[in-house]
Amino acid sequence: MSANGRTISGWKLFWLIGALVLAMSALILLLGPDPVEGLRSVIRATARTSFTLFLAAFVASSLATLVPNAFTRGLVRERRYVGLSFAFSHLVHFAAIVGYGALNPQFWPGRSALTNTPGTIGYVFILLLAATSFRYFSQRMTAAAWKRLHTIGIWVIAVIFGYSFFKRIPTMSALYAIPFSILCAAVAVRLVGKWAQATRRRQAQTRSSTRNTLNPHVLESL
Ligand code: HEM
Repeated sequence: MSANGRTISGWKLFWLIGALVLAMSALILLLGPDPVEGLRSVIRATARTSFTLFLAAFVASSLATLVPNAFTRGLVRERRYVGLSFAFSHLVHFAAIVGYGALNPQFWPGRSALTNTPGTIGYVFILLLAATSFRYFSQRMTAAAWKRLHTIGIWVIAVIFGYSFFKRIPTMSALYAIPFSILCAAVAVRLVGKWAQATRRRQAQTRSSTRNTLNPHVLESL
């Protein structure tokens, strides 16, 4: 996360991304002739900023394994703040939905409990992942429970993004196949990266147990 040789990291990075998301949303509202359509555009635009930030957090550790360099290592280091920025961007998505629903009386009656279910599940997981990225909540969980929640949560959110783009391909535009394909590629990168990490771990374990059997002094010292 380097700009002009200077590093932006941690909360600074979070506030910078947050300010950019807010500035983008304000510009869309200011430049659009109609506030209702403007809010709809903000909903779409924040879904896209959220998607970009989500993807960065989703592939960070796999990318660092598959393509180790300063940028991918930086992405892993800043993953928590990128993830929190994703949650912030989706908070703006939510605020725009509430605003759109208030200005457009046909919006909520036009939706059903069924159409709201994936998005609601998504928000529950975004809230859980964001909350448990703070020590106050994470230290009340076992490391295994934290890992399980974050693995399940990140996949649930990936599936909701996939579903949100996929359902728009036949009804809105074939161009939604682009973000859907990007998501499929990110899934492939994540799976291959995790497989490479597991393989390396297994090889390291095999090497260390071979060293221990070859060096009896290690056993003596146990
Ligand atoms: C109950 C919660 C939610 C509601 C009511 C909702 C509502 C909406 C609405 C009204 C749109 C714009 C529709 C249009 O003009 O095409 C939209 C777009 C979108 N939403 Fe949400 N949303 C919710 C939660 C979520 C969640 C949790 C995610 C992802 C994890 C998500 C991802 C998207 C995506 C990808 C788009 C398409 C953006 C685009 O056009 O490129 N939404 N949502």
